[in-house]
Amino acid sequence: MSSPANWRSEGEPPGEIEEFWRELAGTRDTVRFDEYVAGCLYHPLVGFYSRSGRSGRDGDFLTSPEVGPLFGTLVARAVEAWWEQIGRPDPFAVVEVGAGRGTLAAEVLGEVGEACAEALRYRLVEVSAPQLEIARARLEGVRGVDFGSEWPPARRTVGPAAHVVIANELLDNLAFRVLQSTGDGWDELHVGMVDGELVEILLPVTGEVPFPRLPPGVRIPWQVEAATWVERTLAVEGLRRLVCFDYARTTAEMAPRRWWEWVRTYRGHRRGSHPLESPGRQDITCDVALDQLPGRPTVVTQAEFLREAGLDEITAEAERIWLEGAARGDLEALAARSSLSEARALTDPGGLGGFKVIQWVR
Ligand SMILES: C[S@@+](CC[C@H](N)C(=O)[O-])C[C@H]1O[C@@H](n2cnc3c(N)ncnc32)[C@H](O)[C@@H]1O
Repeated sequence: MSSPANWRSEGEPPGEIEEFWRELAGTRDTVRFDEYVAGCLYHPLVGFYSRSGRSGRDGDFLTSPEVGPLFGTLVARAVEAWWEQIGRPDPFAVVEVGAGRGTLAAEVLGEVGEACAEALRYRLVEVSAPQLEIARARLEGVRGVDFGSEWPPARRTVGPAAHVVIANELLDNLAFRVLQSTGDGWDELHVGMVDGELVEILLPVTGEVPFPRLPPGVRIPWQVEAATWVERTLAVEGLRRLVCFDYARTTAEMAPRRWWEWVRTYRGHRRGSHPLESPGRQDITCDVALDQLPGRPTVVTQAEFLREAGLDEITAEAERIWLEGAARGDLEALAARSSLSEARALTDPGGLGGFKVIQWVR
């Protein structure tokens, strides 16, 4: 197995890979790469998110809501504007999928104006049981909140399923297939075990592949699960807006790059090792291929989205408070300074500001 410098090698406790493989593969010799990724992330016993994996300063990676309260404040403003735009429905059903430990939800619920808050029914959906528990402990009893582990719902519940669905860094965390061009066709990446090590195995792809021919050896992601998730969400009754925040580009942009430039692993706030190392001990993510998503979403950068939601107004005010209070160093001034540094992080074009906000609006 190749372990390029971009992937740090970590090693894992003895016997752990074998245990993981038994849980995932059973008696099979190989599993397709997307099934492997799903196992690494979400297997109920040995998956990263079923163990301790999570976002946050004390977690494995920092997401926009975990940078500080500013992101949630601006999303709350956007949520309120969307409510106005669709005629102030009551109830107003908002669903956040992949809600993690509820940080964005807490901020949105705390920041929307009173009239919107009265109508708001905010559902947090999270597949990771430990994270859902944290979110529940934080938000249980807050007006209008409820929790779930499945989206879209298998059964129609009472009332509208969702007017607005929000997902921050969900699509890049859904399992993805990897194809490798043979020049006149495609092989697909599978995973097997040889002498106690997980290895890459290429097998001819089955079925039609919707991509043009590419030079031999080129790898691309095939994000069937993300596309299906979007399609099923768009089919939800009453849906007016789906908003996904993610790193994203096109398949054509990814194809000329080495695959570790669009597949990233994280662990303890650092880039992790090769995806076949430390299964279940690190996050595995893939840049979202915009052209593989259904419908015709609008796409803006996160920086643009936040400005549209009122970022400049907030930072101008924070600047004023900081300049006036810096000498005194009072709490209000310190909060203003922290808000300014959050704004820089959230709009940094080389970081979170370069994320895409992908929206389907009806
Ligand atoms: C990168 S984390 C982002 C968490 C949070 N949105 C944040 O910004 O901090 C992705 C989250 O999506 C959750 N997730 C993955 N697939 C899911 C699914 N099908 N339904 C609900 N949650 C899912 C994972 O468990 C994980 O908590």
